[in-house]
Amino acid sequence: MNTGPARIEINEVGPRDGLQIEPAFVATDDKVALVDALSDCGFARIEVTSFTSARAIPALADAEAVMQRIRRRPGVVYTCLVPNLRGMERALDCGADELNLVMSVSETHNRANLRMTREQSTAQLLAMLERAQQAGVPCSVSLSTTFGCPFEGDVDPAEAGRLAHRFADAGAAGISLCDTTGMAFPSQVAELCAALAASLPASAALTLHLHNTRGMALANALAGWQTGVRRFDAAAGGLGGCPYAPGASGNVNTEDLVHMFACMGVDTGVSLRPLLDIVATLPRLVARPVPSQLLAAGPRLRTHPAPAWLAGHFGGQADAPAGGNGEPDARPAPGG
Ligand code: COA
Ligand code: ZN
Repeated sequence: MNTGPARIEINEVGPRDGLQIEPAFVATDDKVALVDALSDCGFARIEVTSFTSARAIPALADAEAVMQRIRRRPGVVYTCLVPNLRGMERALDCGADELNLVMSVSETHNRANLRMTREQSTAQLLAMLERAQQAGVPCSVSLSTTFGCPFEGDVDPAEAGRLAHRFADAGAAGISLCDTTGMAFPSQVAELCAALAASLPASAALTLHLHNTRGMALANALAGWQTGVRRFDAAAGGLGGCPYAPGASGNVNTEDLVHMFACMGVDTGVSLRPLLDIVATLPRLVARPVPSQLLAAGPRLRTHPAPAWLAGHFGGQADAPAGGNGEPDARPAPGG
């Protein structure tokens, strides 16, 4: 079991997974402002949008405009989700740094989400990997419904393994194991991640893509981290969900994930203070409250003034323990 401090990478998927399911169209300018603000938080990657059919995902029909208008901060990898060759060409035309190809491990969700059989999607993705190699653009492959399918229930982990190996062998630079509707549980995540970390080539980095539909996302992230996973997708404010998966709800909250790892001394590269400032703007952006516990409670060392009556009750003694400093990034000293 791997428990030592280490650096991890967070891929902020809020602009794509987060907004794709929102019923009210978020204006292009607001999407651009969101990505630009996220660019200053220290993320390794930001998934900006997806190049899908506008009929399938109307919320992201402005993908070209968003990609053209964002400010590219050096050091941040700007990635886009693409479901087919047509989407890939559009993303390449917009200068995406990296592409996120997608298909489902379960047949029914693949058909519902992509209108293709798994066989058709596999062929499409293999052709896309070849095309991306010509273009010199790295691709990762997201495997939806890896830990369970909202239509079929349990999904055979061997199927996810088979697809992961197939795409890694075809040159995928990354494999993302996606828990599309929050069906994963920690021991399941640990088992599959350990098996794949041991068997996949080093050229294909593993990412966990978790949804908090049943409140297990942070536990699943921890379980994955303990087996050596060092990349996580997350969405600010816990936005997100697949419109073609019944019962879908938000991704693991980026701020909760960053906060948990910061408490443990694991460097995510992400600054919590500017991120929380962004999360505070999200309820207005999506016209509803967002499920952010950290936004409500504050970081663990946010302290409050002691009740005024305490001093009088204890005879004015000034020897009560001092409170924390309330700094969002503060964490206890090692062993403290
Ligand atoms: N970008 C833009 N338009 C596209 C496109 C793409 N990548 N792929 C197909 N289209 C267009 C076609 O031109 C066609 O348009 P028309 O009706 O005006 O002629 C229409 O979409 C249907 O094309 P078709 O090839 O028959 O696609 P489909 O209806 O079988 O849908 C997908 C296939 C993959 C395009 C569609 O299911 C999709 O975009 N799914 C994405 C789902 C998603 O993003 N889910 C959440 C993330 S996991
Ligand atoms: Zn998702």
